[in-house]
Amino acid sequence: MSKLNWGMIGGGEGSQIGPAHRLGAGLDGAFDFVAGALDHRADAGRDYGQRLGLVSDRAYGDWREMLAGETGRADRVDLVTVATPNATHFEITAEFLKAGFNVLCEKPMTMTVGEAEHIVGLARETGQICAVNYGYTGYALVRHMRAMVARGDLGKVRLVKAEFAHGHHADAADADNPRVRWRYDPAQAGVSAQFADCGIHALHMASFVTGQNVTTLSADCVSCIESRTLEDDAMVNFRMDGGTVGRLWTSSIAIGRQHGLTLQVFGEKGGLRWAQEQPNQLFWMPLGQRLQTIERGEGNLSPEADRASRVTVGHAEGMPLAFANIYSDLAEAIRAKKEGRPCDPAADLFPRAEDGLRSMAAVFGVAESGKADGQWVDARPPMFR
Ligand code: NAI
Repeated sequence: MSKLNWGMIGGGEGSQIGPAHRLGAGLDGAFDFVAGALDHRADAGRDYGQRLGLVSDRAYGDWREMLAGETGRADRVDLVTVATPNATHFEITAEFLKAGFNVLCEKPMTMTVGEAEHIVGLARETGQICAVNYGYTGYALVRHMRAMVARGDLGKVRLVKAEFAHGHHADAADADNPRVRWRYDPAQAGVSAQFADCGIHALHMASFVTGQNVTTLSADCVSCIESRTLEDDAMVNFRMDGGTVGRLWTSSIAIGRQHGLTLQVFGEKGGLRWAQEQPNQLFWMPLGQRLQTIERGEGNLSPEADRASRVTVGHAEGMPLAFANIYSDLAEAIRAKKEGRPCDPAADLFPRAEDGLRSMAAVFGVAESGKADGQWVDARPPMFR
């Protein structure tokens, strides 16, 4: 199988998420990293790109230069990852889609619902793949949870409980640190801070695993550090289109919590519990039986979980491998598109622009409900009402 060409915008030296993308994209040998505009400072981006092995004329100074340079090439990139700060996602993603590139955009996909609808429209019009990096859905056991729900192991799903609560912005003395302050400033962060940053991962995971979309929600948003304009903690109740009740807690002031992403799913016939900090174990309790531990890599898991596992049981896999599964899905989808054949269904799991749009509608729903003392609001994007 021929290798695919991959490029990256953002993810420069010292960035938080750039290395996880490079590890994920490189893991299976499906993608060659051939182009990048990695930094908001042109020289730093060119220099770092070359140190990572890019040839000098493809270590670009900015994304517009990269768009122009790649558009004319016969060996142009097959996939562009956008891992820049949130406010730039819309413009970069839109321009690359319009020029005929497949895009993997970091979350949140845009800053507004209207922009997100525009991206969905562009992906549909151009026929390009537009994925959104809800990378934690790449964990093998998250995919196994989804498969268990889909094949009816839990019966009807009654309740889903999602959390993404950490304590990394809990120090009031740090609230004025420029690296923290912008996140809670509406001019830079938009209508929501913690929910838009972390809550949407948990909410998307609830949809991914249950196969249901959020319809309505009620939110209690609080700035526990009073100088903050936007929320650093939120409790969100929601309802899903298959009748499941949802509860979600997200926080950045939960001292002692590290990454803090968890999902619990309770059905008529059993309950599941998974936590990202111990991603190789899934706890399953069938009704009336004993609690069981499902280990990643053990025999007889779902095809989706088997495909997403790399090393044998008992050896821990972690976050870059979850990202690698998103890239592996994308490699299969891009090859299927090039070859004019259907995509392997076990690989057809990567989050789409439509998921990014649903998240944006939820972000605006949370902000609206939070301001209205928790009034229930419609959380569906206008396009899907
Ligand atoms: P960061 O601030 O650590 O790094 C951003 C990088 O982008 C820097 O290297 C910066 O120089 C570069 N950059 C900024 N503007 C640019 C431009 N116009 N062109 C080219 N490069 C540019 O940010 P971080 O934490 O890596 O976040 C980036 C994005 O990834 C955000 O949207 C964030 O929400 C998302 N993210 C997603 C995660 C996930 O689990 N899916 C986890 C962490 C972040």
